Amino acid sequence: MLEGKKFFIHTFGCQMNLNDSEHVASLLSKSGASRTDSPENSDIILINTCAVREKSVEKLFSYLGRLKDQKLNKGSVLVCLGCVAQLYREKLLSKFPYLDLVVGPAKYQELPFLLSRPCLEPAVLSHWEKKWVELPISPEVRESQVSAYITIMEGCNNFCTFCVVPFTRGREKYRPLRAIIEEARQLAEAGYLEVQLLGQNVNSYLDPESGADLTVLLEKISDIEQIKWIRFLTSHPKNFSLEMARTMASLKKVCHQLHLPVQSGSNRLLASMNRNYSIEDYLQKIGWLKSLMPAISLSTDIIVGFPGETDDDFGQTMRLIEQVKYTNIFSFRYSPRPLTRAARLKDDVPEEVKIERLIRLQRRQKEIQLELNNKMIGQKQKVLGLGCSKKGNLFTGRNEGYQVVNFSSSQPVKPGLVEVKITGAGAYSLRGEVST
Ligand code: SAH
Ligand code: SF4
Ligand code: F3S
Repeated sequence: MLEGKKFFIHTFGCQMNLNDSEHVASLLSKSGASRTDSPENSDIILINTCAVREKSVEKLFSYLGRLKDQKLNKGSVLVCLGCVAQLYREKLLSKFPYLDLVVGPAKYQELPFLLSRPCLEPAVLSHWEKKWVELPISPEVRESQVSAYITIMEGCNNFCTFCVVPFTRGREKYRPLRAIIEEARQLAEAGYLEVQLLGQNVNSYLDPESGADLTVLLEKISDIEQIKWIRFLTSHPKNFSLEMARTMASLKKVCHQLHLPVQSGSNRLLASMNRNYSIEDYLQKIGWLKSLMPAISLSTDIIVGFPGETDDDFGQTMRLIEQVKYTNIFSFRYSPRPLTRAARLKDDVPEEVKIERLIRLQRRQKEIQLELNNKMIGQKQKVLGLGCSKKGNLFTGRNEGYQVVNFSSSQPVKPGLVEVKITGAGAYSLRGEVST
């Protein structure tokens, strides 16, 4: 249907968007189109978008602005996908009249048909699908040869008051377990060593056919011989159970690494964010994880400057990062999002205070990371060499804790697991050499 056409995809946003772009690339390749790595020489330009913060949308708008000349000179077809497409729908067409298609995440299977119509009328497709839609991925469109994303659920029922995702991804729906296992088996046969299970709220996963939960899914993937490392994200603290921590500790292939977004160290703010846990509950879960897996690598998301955040609230967040000692944090300035409950609250923390708090948080966290990383010098660690393109004289990969390790080797290194002796540490990455 799309023989001879060239397409280009640019992806903003989270891992799920990256995985969705692989699905879209697969669909278009199967229809005869071929992928290019620049918008200039492509017939179809697809932009997969993120709406989570105001800044993400601003970045997209300026990118779309820059594509205008390209679109008008070359006549390429311009398609907006993803969370901004779902959220803004027709409004995007009015703001950028040179867009051809606006297609939300539930409608990607329609793309080959839409793009092969002889006469392309601008259109918006954004209906929700209640049922899971299976979109296979061919291995050649995957970003990595050794590590693969597998989406296991989509959507979110939590309605944190700051978050637009329930309005861009809809209510939770779960992928059938047999389809997940089938994809994992195919990946294993194609030589993949690591799988990362994705969803907005993976700990609420339930197989629509058998009712099996995430612990069962992890056990079943563990049984696939060639798969060596298993990760999953994102976990909501309220759904993270002791049983889950025990499963992580007992299954050898499940990495001792967890992203557990806390958002704030203040109970008052957690309540106002509708997070449904207290900081004491959160710390109890961190306690289980650390006692079952002493070397576990923990990361989190933190929002500063949520409406009503006082110096004291922020101080509690600072205390939390001292206590937990995260390997990594992702921290953001609060920005109000359309349709969310917090958007009705007064955004009363001045911008300069938000910036100052963010800088303080990130500065202290950087010191913590450097301290933790320095302690790793001298250790031998398993590292998943990724792509293994040499940067300068170094190869690059990730350790079990999901930290970047840049390493040297006297021999050529193929993508895969290698043992690396850690010889140096920065706050954001480790250095090492392949140990013989
Ligand atoms: N499902 C995941 C990811 C949500 S979006 C989860 O529950 O954690 C990723 C992160 O973006 C959130 O954890 C939050 O820290 C941040 N975020 C979401 N909405 C935001 C907003 N309005 N302003 C600033 N940061 C926000
Ligand atoms: Fe957003 Fe909260 Fe759902 Fe995460 S759990 S996607 S932060 S509503
Ligand atoms: Fe962004 Fe959508 Fe992911 S809003 S964070 S791309 S689910």
